[in-house]
Parts: sequence; C-alpha cells; structure tokens
Amino acid sequence: MDLSITVNGMKFPNPFLLGSGPPGTNARVIAKSYDAGWGGAVAKTVSLESAKVVNVVPRYGKLRSKVSGEVIGFENIELISDRPIDVWLDEFRQLKKEFPHHILIASIMEEYEKSRWQELTKRVQDTGVDAFELNFSCPHGMTERKMGSEMGEHPDLTEEVTGWVTEVSKIPVWAKMTPNITNIKEPSHAAVRGGAVGVSAINTILSVIGVDLNTLRPMPTVEGHTVPGGYSSQAVRPIALRMVSQLALSLPKEVSISGIGGIESSHDALEFMLLGSSTVQLCTGVMLHGVKMIDELKQGLEKFMTDKGFASVEEIVGKSLTYFSTHMDLVEKMKAAKRTKAGEASRDNEWAQKDITEKTAELTSN
Ligand SMILES: Cc1cc2nc3c(=O)[nH]c(=O)nc-3n(C[C@H](O)[C@H](O)[C@H](O)COP(=O)(O)O)c2cc1C
Repeated sequence: MDLSITVNGMKFPNPFLLGSGPPGTNARVIAKSYDAGWGGAVAKTVSLESAKVVNVVPRYGKLRSKVSGEVIGFENIELISDRPIDVWLDEFRQLKKEFPHHILIASIMEEYEKSRWQELTKRVQDTGVDAFELNFSCPHGMTERKMGSEMGEHPDLTEEVTGWVTEVSKIPVWAKMTPNITNIKEPSHAAVRGGAVGVSAINTILSVIGVDLNTLRPMPTVEGHTVPGGYSSQAVRPIALRMVSQLALSLPKEVSISGIGGIESSHDALEFMLLGSSTVQLCTGVMLHGVKMIDELKQGLEKFMTDKGFASVEEIVGKSLTYFSTHMDLVEKMKAAKRTKAGEASRDNEWAQKDITEKTAELTSN
C-alpha cells in the first residue's frame, strides 16, 4: 500500500519521522532508521559553536505507572548537539548522498543575532538537506543564553528570527513550537508571518519529575542539585493533541503541521493525523523501544486505511477536526437528541448519593 505523503513539496515515503533528539544524534543512527523504514528524520539540533554545549549526567528521569511499571512520563535536561558543526555538515552531505529519497530535516538554533542565524542557515542548506526545523522551543539550558524557548515564548522574536532564516533559505522552513505558553497559536502564526511553511508541535513541557524522599533532592539529581527540565512521553500526548488541533483549526490550510508528543504506536500517530498533522515525529518512544517500532507504525496505518476505506494518507489529515464545537452547542445537541434527562441526572447535588469513584466511572467516556 502507498503510505507516502507530499508535504511542502517534499515526498515522504511514509509520515513517520524521527523527532529531533537522541534518535537523530549522528549520521549512523539516522542511516539505521532509514534502513529500518522510517519516512524521514529531524536531526538533533545543531548550532555554530558546539563547544558552548556541555551536557550533564544523569540527565533523564522517568515517571512510571504505579500498577505496571511502564514508563508514562520522561524528563530530560539534555541540551542541543555537542558535536562540531563541521562534522554535522559532512554527515548531512553523506546522508543525502546515500539516501536521496529519504527526507532529512536539519534542526537549527542560534543566539539572537541575525548574522549567526543566516550563516548557520546557509552552511547547512549547502549540504543538500531537504528542509529546516527552527528550534524555538528547547525549554532548559539554552534559555540561559536566550536561545530555544526564549524565542518561541515571544511571538515578536519568533517572527523576526523566522524572517532572518527565510530571507536566505531556499528550502521549506518549519518552526518548532514550545508548549510552555498560554496560547500556542500566537507564536505559530508569528512564525508563519515570518515565512515558515510548517509548524512542528510540541517540544517538551517544563517539569520536575520527582523528589527522592531519602535524600530530599529533586530529580534528575546532578551533584545534589537539579533544574526543571522537559517532559515528554505518553503523559504529554493529550496536551499535544489539544495544541495540534488548535493550530490546525486556526492556521492557513497550506501551512503543514508535524505532530509530536507521546507517540508510541500507530494508534497514537493516527490521532495526531486525524487532528491535522500530515507528518508525525517520535523521540522518547524510540529511545525506550528502538527504531523497529516503525514496523507496527506502518502496519497499523495500513490496516486503518483498509478498514476505514482511506485511499491515501493525505485523506486522513484533519478528518476529525470538524467534530470540535462549543460547550453551548454540545448542550443544544443533547437537547435535540432528547438526552436532556441525562444532563439533569448528572447535576452536582447527586454526587453525595453514590460513591465518588462510581459516579466518576458513570461520567467517563472511555
Ligand atoms: C532526551 C531528549 C532530547 C531532546 N533533544 C531535542 C533537540 O535537540 N531538539 C529539539 O527540537 N527537540 C528535542 N527534544 C524534544 C523532542 O524532539 C520532542 O519534541 C519531545 O520529546 C516530545 O515528543 P516525544 O514524547 O515523542 O519525545 C528532545 C527530547 C528528549 C526526550
């Protein structure tokens, strides 16, 4: 079955991409993922001066289900790539030579200086990568140098910096948004005004994964101390889905969305596509389960298309957006369906008559 999709003029063999982070940390791992069948990869974010990037150990923390032990939340305080730009430029060239039909997206980030952003854009573009993803969203570490989410949290900066890049870029530019903001539509629309043709959402949510009750230290603990870090994995998916749907309902139709956040299966990926993502990216899922996840992603997409009668991946994109409404309208629809009684039966003063857990179950949809 044909799982390809063309987005901003780029033909992806399938809509599944490695998200920027450890799964795209060098050419060798990206090549392995292409061999395994991934449609594309967003490489780990690069900047001009890797010597300024110093990572700490440990830099990850997990939140597990109390019942099964499964990882449902993941915090990281990892920075962008600490590998020299010249090494990356060679690797981008080599990857495009070996895998001309796989999409390679370079994630870039720089300090708030036009000449630096434009130099990085030109040097990376010369390697033949297919597109840029501007990292306006790393929520920790880089912000101390006014990079990453410092830009994505201020729409005026988002627009200005996107404009610097699009002024010299000859390839599609996506802007990756931070969820650590009240209204994700504002910086996203600003990026589009700056010339971005796609939006990637979301990066990680600022978090503290836990506190060790023996040592009283918040985690991940580095020499007894910590900083808040980025939260990802399954637990963030509902927030990401909400933000993606808000973007899809408000951005011009020609702006593409790459959905990210807690995707671990074809089921999760399809939810993002139905809410408007034409591609999806996986990061923590791949770190926990490996690149072979692509087999289930492709099989699940194929089965869904066969079962539901979709002839192309494109037809799925945004199909469920029409079912968002207002609360007032939901009440009207219940009335029209003569279900007013159900609404009356769930009034707050009934709660005392039943066990609270029973009442919660009664009002839950899934
Ligand atoms: C360890 C780690 C490192 C990451 N590094 C980057 C990065 O360099 N650039 C970037 O844009 N996003 C980075 N991210 C964010 C992911 O690309 C992704 O937006 C986020 O983790 C949510 O998706 P997920 O739940 O599939 O991981 C990183 C995430 C993790 C967990």
